[in-house]
Amino acid sequence: MILPCGPLDPPLPDYGSAMTEGTDHIGASFIRFGEEIARTAPTYGTICRGVADNPEVLSLLDGVPEPQRRPVLLLAAVHFRLLGHPDEPLARHYRTINPQGSIDDPVPDFTDFCSSHADALRIIISSRTTQTNDVGRAALILPTLRPINDRTGGPLGLIDIGTSAGLNLHLDRYAYRYHDTSGGERRLSGTGPELDCLVRGAAVEQLIDATPPQIVHRIGVDPHPIDPSDPDEARWLLACLWPDQTERVGRLREALAVATANRNEVEIHTGSGVELLSDVVGRSRARGCCPVVINTWSLTYFTPSERVAYVEELDRLGTRDDLAWVYLEAPNETPELPWGEVDGNISLSVLRRVDWKGGRRTERTIGIAHPHGRWIEVTEL
Ligand SMILES: C[S@@+](CC[C@H](N)C(=O)[O-])C[C@H]1O[C@@H](n2cnc3c(N)ncnc32)[C@H](O)[C@@H]1O
Repeated sequence: MILPCGPLDPPLPDYGSAMTEGTDHIGASFIRFGEEIARTAPTYGTICRGVADNPEVLSLLDGVPEPQRRPVLLLAAVHFRLLGHPDEPLARHYRTINPQGSIDDPVPDFTDFCSSHADALRIIISSRTTQTNDVGRAALILPTLRPINDRTGGPLGLIDIGTSAGLNLHLDRYAYRYHDTSGGERRLSGTGPELDCLVRGAAVEQLIDATPPQIVHRIGVDPHPIDPSDPDEARWLLACLWPDQTERVGRLREALAVATANRNEVEIHTGSGVELLSDVVGRSRARGCCPVVINTWSLTYFTPSERVAYVEELDRLGTRDDLAWVYLEAPNETPELPWGEVDGNISLSVLRRVDWKGGRRTERTIGIAHPHGRWIEVTEL
């Protein structure tokens, strides 16, 4: 059994996860959520606790179906609207707009903003769902690819299921800094954000090769793909981040620029990952690539029967021809995936790889990781 790693940096809840809120307890869910995030996102922590008993603010979520009826949807809608109205008093509390932030209580400005923009906020809330794409996860997937190149002796076709804005599809284009607990460091040059990842349980050179993987074909699948070059879509992705987490916001902006500059090099297919899996694997094979299917914090959105079908389909496709599957998901939210020796109850992000070669299937747990790729505790390479 793998034990969770130490108190380096406790994983944040992934606010894109499919956890539901109680329908009649929206105020209680603001208090609970506010307490949960108070340390990592103090502005939102204060706002959530401050509006939990404000019926006017909470009513903005009236009529929103589960599981979207959550504090994060209201917070994202306000952030989205505020990014377009940076002169509003509330903006001084949001570091995405005012990098210094403000030490004043943000709650009065938040409630005033909700009141004066109520109609616009209702439209945003009724037409959008929270959406994320964290480029930091690329730092976890990247090291898994070169060994697949070496094993297959050929180029790879990357297939990202639940691709969102497609940021994972450009993972070999970003800059990286991997460093370990013995002072070892490996830097990889690239464009866009420099992604920083602490490696525990292995030396950096054991985890990550200096030679980048050879990727010649890139496909993303999502029922709601985001066009990184569309300013409105990009603004929604930014709005779904928390304004205190300026580092995440900055690297998202930079990664969106990389995805925009290279958007002609990816194929995006709109639809369900289960239904399109066979088709996209076939497309990748038709290009002479070994397909590598990846999914990062996406399968939590599938129903249990979809996850069962997804795993069975991968097995069928892998038995027919060589294939690799790399996944970063939380076992407790996706119990239908093969977790090997990992404790299926843990709520941390676990990185695993399954290979099919010549009809033979092997699987390994590469490590437990921060959900946004800030560290990995390596267990097996
Ligand atoms: C939390 S986001 C993760 C996005 C990205 N993989 C990342 O790690 O940043 C989950 C993504 O899964 C997508 N998704 C939801 N249901 C899906 C399905 N049935 N098939 C494929 N993708 C799905 C959502 O639209 C969303 O873009």
